[in-house]
Amino acid sequence: MEKQALSVNNYKGTRDFYPDDMLYRNWFFSKVKSVVEEYGFEEYNAPLLESFEIYAAKSGEEIAGEQLYSFLDKKNRRLAIRPEMTPSVARMVAAKLDTLVFPLRWFSIANFMRYENPQKGRLREHWQVNVDIFGSERMECELEIFAVVAGIMRAFGADKSMFRIRVNNRKFFNDVISQVLEADPAQVKLISKAVDKRAKISKESYDAWLSELGISAKQIGLLDEISASSYEAIKSKLESGSEGAAELDSLFSLLDQTGFSGLCEFDFSIVRGFDYYTGTVFEVYDTSPENRRSLFGGGRYDNLVSMFRDDAVSGIGFGLGDVTFQHFLAIHALIPESIFESPKVYVTRFADVPLQEYYTIAAELRAQGIPVCVHLLGEEKLGKQVGLAEKKRFPVVVIAGVDELANGTVAVKHLEMKQQFEWKRSEYVSKIKALLSGGKDPR
Ligand code: HAM
Repeated sequence: MEKQALSVNNYKGTRDFYPDDMLYRNWFFSKVKSVVEEYGFEEYNAPLLESFEIYAAKSGEEIAGEQLYSFLDKKNRRLAIRPEMTPSVARMVAAKLDTLVFPLRWFSIANFMRYENPQKGRLREHWQVNVDIFGSERMECELEIFAVVAGIMRAFGADKSMFRIRVNNRKFFNDVISQVLEADPAQVKLISKAVDKRAKISKESYDAWLSELGISAKQIGLLDEISASSYEAIKSKLESGSEGAAELDSLFSLLDQTGFSGLCEFDFSIVRGFDYYTGTVFEVYDTSPENRRSLFGGGRYDNLVSMFRDDAVSGIGFGLGDVTFQHFLAIHALIPESIFESPKVYVTRFADVPLQEYYTIAAELRAQGIPVCVHLLGEEKLGKQVGLAEKKRFPVVVIAGVDELANGTVAVKHLEMKQQFEWKRSEYVSKIKALLSGGKDPR
């Protein structure tokens, strides 16, 4: 029987990262990391596998019921591949509650799996930068988290016309729905799920969904009216006080005082899909209509740590997704070409020179931090070797034949400048260094 070749395709909704993709990814991660570290956040990480229960309890039906990759291990324990970081980090905080010094400013960069229907901006495996503060209920934490969002956007060269932070509050949403629509707590939860999906479905499907949930035509009308109203107009419809409105008032006032209000807007449709959010909720959107999915999503959660022990520790933070953020950077032309440039030197070889000579040259360059590749294929003509270096985007090629070695020199070719130099062995390393760091002609 003929052997059936295996498929070269990666699993649906995942990506292979070829070297150029890794150049982008490493640039993105290292830039974000340096920004969050500037704000004093400390890096943590957690395992890829968690117990199924930590998602079943508070993440919500969509994640736990539909999108979780879960399985039984060899001892029949029900496990899940993490679909998000927040339950894991809450578990880590709960585990060391007595020794950690609060407030915590923590961040991580990790991958997640969700059984999604893959489409633009939604994959089955994606990476998130999670940035969270634990141990303070004060609104300054929200402000700090928004400042980090703004800092990240600024570091990538984005200006305020390119994105918006859309803000709401879960308590405010619940108060409005229960008071204005006269909905009971079960209805409020069902309505929040429909509102969360509103932007992704047609008005007809949205109305049909609400009707199926037992929401009356009058309530749907009121919901439409509220959804199109300003914060002040919605607030004025509340008969009794709302803790959520008080929280939003204090957040907006802090944002005004610190100049961040220009980046933010109130949006009643931001409710967030996870059940664990209890206060502020927000998402960051690209202003370009080409990129409709959120770049960042986050909010405050008061009860996640208490899943693990009898202590309440409030958390607030966000996940920044790599897929939509890459679209954002591409749409606004914010990915510099220079990240794909290779800083390396290619050392060509001649058959009549012992290989050891080239290893010595490579070692001299590496000792100065210059990445080097010695030609591997063997005895091709020099032109072919230089051509290969060019194709692989090496900016500099070293040529050392019998004559150069006898004269104590090496020839150095800058491929883009199309110039060749002959330098003494005592000085060629520093001259190449200057050449690579942008010094045009170091003669
Ligand atoms: P999330 O909104 O599910 O929140 O995800 C955060 C971000 O990750 C989204 O805005 C989006 O950019 C990206 N993202 C999510 N799912 C996918 C997917 N299937 N494909 C591509 N990108 C995706 C959370 O996960 C919360 N745990 C974030 C958080 C941290 N809340 C508080 N702290």
